[in-house]
Amino acid sequence: MDAISVIRTKRDHGELTPDQIDWVIDAYTRGEVAHEQMSSLAMAIFLNGMNRKEIARWTAAMIASGERMDFSGLPRPTADKHSTGGVGDKITLPLAPLVAACGAAVPQLSGRGLGHTGGTLDKLESIPGWRAQLSNDEMLDILREAGSVICAAGDGLAPADKKLYALRDVTGTVESIPLIASSIMSKKIAEGTGSLVLDVKVGSGAFMKNLDDARELAATMVELGTDHGVRTVALLTDMATPLGRTVGNALEVRESVEVLAGGGPEDVVELTLALAREMLDAAGLQDADPARALADGSAMDHWRRMIAAQGGDPDAPLPVAREQHTVTATATGTLTALDAYAVGLAAWRLGAGRARKEDPVQAGAGIELHARPGDRVTAGQPLLTLHTDTPEKIPYALDALTGGTVVAPADTAFTAGPVVLE
Ligand code: URA
Repeated sequence: MDAISVIRTKRDHGELTPDQIDWVIDAYTRGEVAHEQMSSLAMAIFLNGMNRKEIARWTAAMIASGERMDFSGLPRPTADKHSTGGVGDKITLPLAPLVAACGAAVPQLSGRGLGHTGGTLDKLESIPGWRAQLSNDEMLDILREAGSVICAAGDGLAPADKKLYALRDVTGTVESIPLIASSIMSKKIAEGTGSLVLDVKVGSGAFMKNLDDARELAATMVELGTDHGVRTVALLTDMATPLGRTVGNALEVRESVEVLAGGGPEDVVELTLALAREMLDAAGLQDADPARALADGSAMDHWRRMIAAQGGDPDAPLPVAREQHTVTATATGTLTALDAYAVGLAAWRLGAGRARKEDPVQAGAGIELHARPGDRVTAGQPLLTLHTDTPEKIPYALDALTGGTVVAPADTAFTAGPVVLE
């Protein structure tokens, strides 16, 4: 077997054989297939796709490239959630302890932000002392003690995906349904969760810009999970507008704690509860009541235990950026658009995100949103507050926001769409 024949098969619209797939994933993981060869193959897949049979084999080969975790010794059923990535998507933070408070074990392997989308680990690292890197034994201990754990995937889990994802990120091959589905599902299946709820984001701030593509991605991932014995369901949810009232690391932790305290923005609470119900259902805990666990403080207790178990101080003040800049409404009327991509890009330019995997992020950087689509606004009223430690970046953030907010005449008919689309 050689890399060039595999590349040629896909370049010429052929179907990769199981042997070709197994060989190329294994050889790439071992370093025998070079990055430039894998990048050429990834582009051929990006352009010509893979059928479901190829995707299933590709996923199985990525799982087989590393270790598999096993949570079968835990006394509770396991449930996990994965979002395909969005702007202001802090849902994992309140969701994991909430579902734990309802009786499931939540082993939540999460990632860092890249580009305009935020990352759960970056958000949690704004809590003083909190650690993302845990050994498998530590992860199991925290799951037993706190019911949920949010941490980075260890190096042994789907190493083929680790290499391939980093390569796709710098070769323009991220937004491919076969590659996204196999990347996400190889990690989730190797992680060993019994059930999985996928939050597939749709809209300007998501990888999938339209419903048809999102449906295809969701169906592909559900089939992969089901074939590997993981009870898997997917929700399609809106990412045309950022979630909640904050975008940025410490800002989003603050908002998540508000949700756990029984408050917080309506859309964040609605999506947290919708995903919690799906996770509890998939875990066989249909009688649990997540709304009550938010209201009675038990979700907050689990959050505090989880944060403390990972070295964090749940009572420590969160970092605040050195500079703030207010963006005001230029007209009076109804806010009809607050574009998720524009806000995500602006937050990234302010320092909330990174350009390369090794770059640091600013804990306090980000954007507060003072109005949501459908709200009446008056010329001069604050619409957004930009937060940053690097004020020289503010003009670039303002550039990103150009056209991202639309104020229409006050009598314009406008109804905000639902958070859960399907
Ligand atoms: N998240 C992943 O883990 N992989 C992708 O390809 C895209 C989003």
